[in-house]
Amino acid sequence: MRLMEKPLISSEQIQQRVTELGRDISCRFEGKSILMLIVLKGSFLFGADLIRSITVPVEVDFIGARSYCGTLSQGVVEFTYRPQTSWSDRHIVVIEDIMDTGRTAQAIMDNLRLKEPASLTLCTLLDKPSRREVPIEPDLVGFTIGNEFVVGYGLDYEQQGRELADIRVLVPDA
Ligand code: IMP
Ligand code: MG
Repeated sequence: MRLMEKPLISSEQIQQRVTELGRDISCRFEGKSILMLIVLKGSFLFGADLIRSITVPVEVDFIGARSYCGTLSQGVVEFTYRPQTSWSDRHIVVIEDIMDTGRTAQAIMDNLRLKEPASLTLCTLLDKPSRREVPIEPDLVGFTIGNEFVVGYGLDYEQQGRELADIRVLVPDA
């Protein structure tokens, strides 16, 4: 596998869009405070940048989720870290790196809904709607991309590539 030379999304484009998303979130929650739940690990850079564009009071916690394909075709999501903050009656904004089949985000949202938050918002940096297998739509999307595997800006391929400042497409060796 190798990375395309040209970035799919440059670091300048990322920073501009992240600033816009931060403004959007601040408008939506004006006069309120939010609990930002950053989904580990891929969203750590996105969350770190996003929080600096948010102007309403924000508390940060994390949620760890890992998706597996079991012997059945259905993906199973395992929680590897649970938020330490009580979230009932809080305005939760979930920060995802990428939505693919949608199974990870769906499992996270279903789980959070059980404790009755005041509101639940899903914000993803990247969205691959053509890959969706479950009916879930993010409330806020940074960039919509096609059916391609990407790395960089926190996203990995087998734990590699998270440190890249831009987002690049991974392609099989010629
Ligand atoms: P899901 O299929 O929507 O549940 O996505 C599961 C997880 O797969 C995401 O949270 C990412 O960690 C990973 N993933 C999906 N597509 C990509 C990609 O293009 N690059 C890196 N990770 C990806
Ligand atoms: Mg991953």
